[in-house]
Amino acid sequence: MEFLVAPGGSIHGEARVPGDKSISHRSVMLGALATGETSVTGFLQGEDALATVAAFRALGVEIDGPRKGALRIRGVGLEGLRAAPSSLDMGNSGTSMRLLAGILAGQSFASELVGDTSLMGRPMQRVITPLTRMGAVIEAGDGGRPPLRIAGGSKLHGIHYDLPMASAQVKSCVLLAGLFADGETSVTEPAPTRDHTERMLRGFGYDLESQDGSVKLHGGGELRGCEIDVPADISSAAFLLVAASIAPGSELLLTHVGVNPTRTGVISILRLMGADITVSNEREVGGEPVADILVRSAVLKGIDIPRDLVPLAIDEFPVLFIAAACAEGRTVLRGAEELRVKESDRIASMAEGLTTLGIRNEVLDDGIIIDGGTLSGGTIRTFHDHRIAMSFAVAALRAEAQIRILDCDHVATSFPGFDSLTRGLGLQIASRDAGE
Ligand code: S3P
Repeated sequence: MEFLVAPGGSIHGEARVPGDKSISHRSVMLGALATGETSVTGFLQGEDALATVAAFRALGVEIDGPRKGALRIRGVGLEGLRAAPSSLDMGNSGTSMRLLAGILAGQSFASELVGDTSLMGRPMQRVITPLTRMGAVIEAGDGGRPPLRIAGGSKLHGIHYDLPMASAQVKSCVLLAGLFADGETSVTEPAPTRDHTERMLRGFGYDLESQDGSVKLHGGGELRGCEIDVPADISSAAFLLVAASIAPGSELLLTHVGVNPTRTGVISILRLMGADITVSNEREVGGEPVADILVRSAVLKGIDIPRDLVPLAIDEFPVLFIAAACAEGRTVLRGAEELRVKESDRIASMAEGLTTLGIRNEVLDDGIIIDGGTLSGGTIRTFHDHRIAMSFAVAALRAEAQIRILDCDHVATSFPGFDSLTRGLGLQIASRDAGE
């Protein structure tokens, strides 16, 4: 599937984007490990979260749905998972693979985790190292890449782990393994990262201590099934925040968006660039802050992105690069080497597309320099990365000619219905099968 996006237009109306991907994954994982039933609303029916559902079904958990974002999970308790009949295919989803590795390391049976071409190339040593220190036995492919073969049957023991990188996936993996470990498991992170695992563990009644960048729990407790209302994903909202900011004459209200402070770097960065964003109706839904966000178009300016905001906006950089391309002056991003190991190397993928559209940029080891300018049209490669595809779709609002975006199938991993939703708001986007 590819997108053809005609140049120009503006963005108007009101929208609720699909549910948060990180929270959707965790709702299934903790719901499965809980005693009693967990019911979820607002669940993301995207391929990544569905891969997590399929994995837990294969591990013997009864799950109804999702239907219209509603899911019911009959928890089996910490000791209740069963060996899957074959390898667990995590598709494109790094979150599923890394968090599940933590859970499966604590089981009495063996498991194998595989994924699509993108996931099979992503680094897993970052979870193998701490899990091995906890007593797990894990074999991986070359360079610590999948497949992951987790032997099972080893009793894990709690450790303290100083995370070498700011990664919520590694933090969550260790904490989830800690549920099955003897004694205390704790992690310290070098910078704050998304804390959905910690919040949700508390929501399931699990005791957890967190202070000064460290989180601590004791193994062997109990998770109790609960109700979860998943907010709209700020990472999906980000495409529309940038779209309405760069397209003159736009005004858009995004409702029920998750605004957990570990996720709102995109709002802070856009505001520093001069964006007109108003957050209102702030409330807490199931332990997660939620709000409505009004965005109007504005003249953006280039900035030096503060390093402390990098982990808080880690998934939003592709579309922030489009904002930078439409801004006056130069934007500099440093300290973002993690972008190189996402669904694609997002620094390289974005740099190629920006160059195709005539935007001057310089690639750095850990970031990029982008000079704002005029975007031409052109044909963009996505490297099978959903966020690259959606970012360049948004760019068409300020392009001089059509943008054709190849290989857009992966958009369904995180934002099913992206084309129809954005079309309804004013983006002149058409999708077609690549063969047409
Ligand atoms: C995620 C954490 C982030 C993020 C990913 C989802 C999570 O990855 O990029 O999309 O749900 O924990 P890292 O922890 O590798 O930075």
